[in-house]
Amino acid sequence: MKIIQCPEEMNEYANAIKKIHKISFIPTMGALHKGHMSLLAKAYKENPCTKIIVSLFVNPTQFTEKKDFEKYPHTIDADIKKLVEFEKQEGLKIDAVFIPKGATFYSDTEYPSLRAYTIEKQDIVLPKIFFEAEGKSRPGHFEGVFQVLFRLFHIIRPDFAIFGQKDFQQVLLVQYLQKQYFQFLQIITGDIFREPSGLAMSSRNMRLSKNEKERASVIYKALRNAKLFIEKEYETKNYISVETILSLVKNILLSESFIEKIHSIEIRKRMDFYECDRIEKNKKYVLLVSVQYAGIHLIDNILL
Ligand code: PAJ
Repeated sequence: MKIIQCPEEMNEYANAIKKIHKISFIPTMGALHKGHMSLLAKAYKENPCTKIIVSLFVNPTQFTEKKDFEKYPHTIDADIKKLVEFEKQEGLKIDAVFIPKGATFYSDTEYPSLRAYTIEKQDIVLPKIFFEAEGKSRPGHFEGVFQVLFRLFHIIRPDFAIFGQKDFQQVLLVQYLQKQYFQFLQIITGDIFREPSGLAMSSRNMRLSKNEKERASVIYKALRNAKLFIEKEYETKNYISVETILSLVKNILLSESFIEKIHSIEIRKRMDFYECDRIEKNKKYVLLVSVQYAGIHLIDNILL
């Protein structure tokens, strides 16, 4: 497992690999957990012959609040250990880990050969849906994700990139980026990996005490209950009002005092992420929740 810090070196290394092999790329912000590892396993399963590259980079430009960025766990040494253990356990090889240095990653003076791969945040124009739901409570977040992936995809030129469905809107953003700039890249998605309690794994969970973590399962409970309610209603109805479902979810969430703020509860069409007043039997939707829980931002979703 090669560890590369310099973006220009990463670019040269990836270009050399690409002469012979295809590349599967898993971008992360580190603080690795089983959810991240499930994406690595998925990368191998889908395309066993590719070279695997993982990136660990807490991208400052996607954080709305400086404090949130500062609080985000930085655990590079533990992450490298986890990747080595994963290789041993699974008998698989991770070809390279890219760990750019935060302060200089976007610098044109530091890395002149990558100048063409820079996009300024203010030049990124995203469709309306990225200013809704998660985009509404986190202004500038999706532009920051777009910016970092634009640079990472150019540096690494992967054939496959693997993303988790946990960040549902992020997957839509990646698909949008792919259509605009990286037509030869194939996006692969992995299911949400959960704790036994149902809580979706997240790097931010590290900031929770044992008790807070256990009680955070209320988020999944709210999603599951809504899904069960919908299934029951569909036995006698062909459509259900979205308002009814949202208030059910809201009531369950509000029963937990660690929930400090509900940023959003939304039901959207899966196809285009459009809002709707009612859901119809045999059509596909996603229910998304975003909350402030015991001082941290947590998101989750369930397919309907
Ligand atoms: P990060 O939060 O580290 O997540 C990296 C990848 O792991 C994302 O594709 C995310 O959806 C996936 N992931 C996180 N938790 C998961 C879970 N419980 N089950 C399955 N997959 C999960 O998402 C980012 O970093 C950043 O925005 C990034 C894309 C790296 C750009 O900076």
